[in-house]
Amino acid sequence: MTTRVDSDAVGEVLAALGTDEGRADPYPHYARLRALGPVVTAPDGVLVITGYRQCSAFVRDQRPLKQSEQLLLAAGYHDWRERPSLRLMFTSMVMLDGPAHTRLRRLVSSAFTARRVANLRPAVERIVGELCERLDGTTDFVTEFAFPLPATVIGELLGVPRADRPMFQTLVRDWTMVLDELSPAVVDRADSAAVTIRDYLADLAETRHAEPADDLISALVAAGDGEEGLDAEELVSMAALLLSAGFETTTGLLANGLFALLEEPAQAARLRTEQALAAPAVEELLRYDSPVHLASTRIMPTDLTIADIGFAEGQRAVALLGAANRDPEVFREPDRLVLDRAEEPPLSFGGGAHYCLGAPLARLEAQVAFPLLLSRFPRLSLAGDPVFRPGLSLHTYTSLPISTN
Ligand code: HEM
Repeated sequence: MTTRVDSDAVGEVLAALGTDEGRADPYPHYARLRALGPVVTAPDGVLVITGYRQCSAFVRDQRPLKQSEQLLLAAGYHDWRERPSLRLMFTSMVMLDGPAHTRLRRLVSSAFTARRVANLRPAVERIVGELCERLDGTTDFVTEFAFPLPATVIGELLGVPRADRPMFQTLVRDWTMVLDELSPAVVDRADSAAVTIRDYLADLAETRHAEPADDLISALVAAGDGEEGLDAEELVSMAALLLSAGFETTTGLLANGLFALLEEPAQAARLRTEQALAAPAVEELLRYDSPVHLASTRIMPTDLTIADIGFAEGQRAVALLGAANRDPEVFREPDRLVLDRAEEPPLSFGGGAHYCLGAPLARLEAQVAFPLLLSRFPRLSLAGDPVFRPGLSLHTYTSLPISTN
């Protein structure tokens, strides 16, 4: 059975991770945590799983549950259903367990299969081409490319009109901060963003009810008329989840990936010319600097053992995916970017019942974008200091200045 270190050392490392420097480069801190053991106990009692094999087994296991309401109650939000941000987030599919989760996932999964997504390749190539036209001279990669690419793709898929998409960049960022922090200030700000998102999507659903179009919102509205379909609130929270998950994370993959490639010109040069490298390169970029570092907290419904870790009933645990992806027991020289690495797959999309629904879509966007960006702009370089997004769950930049010449 794996022994756990309950020491001040864990608290010290977690505090360092919470600083600006820690967020900018969490990897040395993850290494310190892993050195304490593949599973450690945080001062608040949460188990933090950092080993690759342990994280992999944990996220795949069906027994730990999200039981999100318990977390909200423990954080003092007895009125969470009256708080728009918490209600919109914690009634969405990603936070549900068992049959409630399966029912919702089944309703949307057919839109995101590998085959359906592969059909989107020509559209993604067109959008990438158009965005490249706009990159000229010194510019911000996040604003001009990393955000608009996934926002356009998921916007078109869902049926959010083009002119309305830009406002979601800050709205979604403010709303999803509740995944990182449940302080009154964060929740207040998230509430006001969630009200705008919720009301906008409810209006859009009504419009599509009256006048269906060839998009996913219309399909979900139509399914709502059937017995198993979504009711009005479920539809809004599903659309909000897809919209936010559809671009925030992928914006991160594009920004983190480009930063990593610009730091390693020899690797970038290979990707520029070797077509076949696109798919493995994206897996390596997902491993090397994933935009999602934490899967959401699970709570144990009973005493159980997973990968030699003993969990007690009621125990809370998190999989620190960002640390698992750099585990030296699985990846040789884990801190090096090696685009044709052929080891275990990264854990960036999680696993098991909640395995990322949008993984094929995120992969497609990145596999099209990186080779095209590198070949179109051979002198692409950093043109200033990047700005980091606050919070640990999502690890990325809010600004990445680049120069194309
Ligand atoms: C690089 C980009 C992405 C990363 C790293 C990522 C990561 C993840 C992770 C780690 C989870 C599991 C969370 C957990 O178990 O607590 C997840 C779930 C999910 N992701 Fe993604 N994601 C990405 C892109 C997307 C895209 C493009 C979509 C578009 C629809 C999407 C939709 C979802 C949904 C709906 C879930 C919830 C699935 C469920 O609970 O059954 N993601 N994602």
